[in-house]
Amino acid sequence: MLDIQISEKKFWDNNVEGYIFLLKENFESASKFADIDYIEKNYYPNLKEILKKHKFESKKGESFVLTGKKGDKLVQFIFIGLGSLENRWNIELENLRRAVGSAVLLLKKLKIKKSVLAVPNEKPFGLIEARLIRQMIIAGLMADYEFTKFKSDKNKDDEWSCEMLLSVDAKEDQTYVRSLSEGHIIGDAVNLARNLSDMPANIINPTTLSSQAKEIADSLNLECKVFGREKAEELGMGGFLAVDSGSDELGKFVVIEYNTTKKDAPTIALVGKGVTFDSGGISLKPADYMTGMKFDMSGAATVIATMKAIGQLKPEVNVVAVAPMVENMPSGKACKQDDIITFMNGKTAEIKNTDAEGRLILADALCYVEKFYKPDVVLDIATLTGACLYALGHFFTGLMTKDEVLGTKLQAVSLVTGDRVWPLPMDDDFKDAIKSEVADIANTGAPNYKAGTITASWFLSNFVTTKNWAHLDIAGTADGVPGVNYLGKGATGAGVRLFIDFILNYKK
Ligand code: BES
Ligand code: MG
Ligand code: ZN
Repeated sequence: MLDIQISEKKFWDNNVEGYIFLLKENFESASKFADIDYIEKNYYPNLKEILKKHKFESKKGESFVLTGKKGDKLVQFIFIGLGSLENRWNIELENLRRAVGSAVLLLKKLKIKKSVLAVPNEKPFGLIEARLIRQMIIAGLMADYEFTKFKSDKNKDDEWSCEMLLSVDAKEDQTYVRSLSEGHIIGDAVNLARNLSDMPANIINPTTLSSQAKEIADSLNLECKVFGREKAEELGMGGFLAVDSGSDELGKFVVIEYNTTKKDAPTIALVGKGVTFDSGGISLKPADYMTGMKFDMSGAATVIATMKAIGQLKPEVNVVAVAPMVENMPSGKACKQDDIITFMNGKTAEIKNTDAEGRLILADALCYVEKFYKPDVVLDIATLTGACLYALGHFFTGLMTKDEVLGTKLQAVSLVTGDRVWPLPMDDDFKDAIKSEVADIANTGAPNYKAGTITASWFLSNFVTTKNWAHLDIAGTADGVPGVNYLGKGATGAGVRLFIDFILNYKK
């Protein structure tokens, strides 16, 4: 467990086991307070030579630990390289998040119990110090997350607890206090989403996931409704019902509301795909493609976790989150290829492939929020298409919207938060890809159109009338992101940081 606090003491006056230095090229400190000259003067006159000998040149991504003495105490000096810090602010901000990630992973490895890190000068990162601290806390908490619940020997690691102090310019400042608490709330929310996603499908199913959502909502006094087949039938949710029909698990539809006390506030709707396991259904996936399909509820996890943070941060907008939760399974009751289903808004779709199930449950969920909440903005998030992995890989969520202003806003927030998105064109040329001979639309794009991520978004567009609508495909970003230390191995909580900051910054 990692605890991050702010220290207004001078860097060297902190009595800790680990002193962390963020260094620019040529060993220049990125902070004016944590100068390595001090180490050279007092402990290692030939420090730079030692570091060079160990091939540490303070380049981006490098780190090195040296044991030394402070007074009569043995301490660790932890050096983290930041490189030149001359790239665009958003690149350097990501560089800083990863530097904090390296520091946390080293603290954990060395079982250091108390440490201090000087917050760097904010200039290269384009944020004021308080906002920088907030980003550092979120990254630090994210780096600390590990999915160890089912490791029998995990208790040994659990004993590690560390306080990491962020040393700032000594002045009483309320913005520090706010950044500290926001950072913790957001970091914890991301890790909550990751934990829900990492849980296997024999534990997290629509029933258990919905009851966790309800518990979270109740604890924050957020309005929460959970309903199943019966109500879905009443509402005419043919998409939700079609996917739900194949599984012995009972599908659940979850709605969580946060209502601000401010009058006439706008409403933001979040819709998250909650397929707790995607076998493909009757159009069964080959085994190799089925592995990892426990993560197919990551969109739902993201909207639940976002609501947890929103319930604590209490912004002056209304937020409603809906998450349709089902298990996509083959059985005698399952929906089949060639079936024709009718959605809540009366539109019909021909099922060409039961593995294109996410769009079916999202269609009804989108109709539902529009009908009952009349939102000003609709954002949906889903591990929707394998094609997105080919289009964008693991580092950028696919962003599709016809609203340029909304798209630009989301992209800007994504660069600040590190929860990055990249636009794919919602051009009319793709529209005919989902034509059907027998129904209004087909649930897969015609193969000659390719671009499965965009054609899926066109499918969803049939169920949204709100102008301010954006679709986010997190098939690549929700889990298994390589080489980003603070994202770890499994689920990443993609979209949580983006949604929270989008909501906090929202102005009509
Ligand atoms: N959940 C998958 C998409 C997915 C694939 C997410 C790989 C993460 C990693 C989705 O339900 C799906 O199966 N999509 C199909 C659509 C196709 C049948 C049109 C796909 O991408 O193959
Ligand atoms: Mg599928
Ligand atoms: Zn799926």
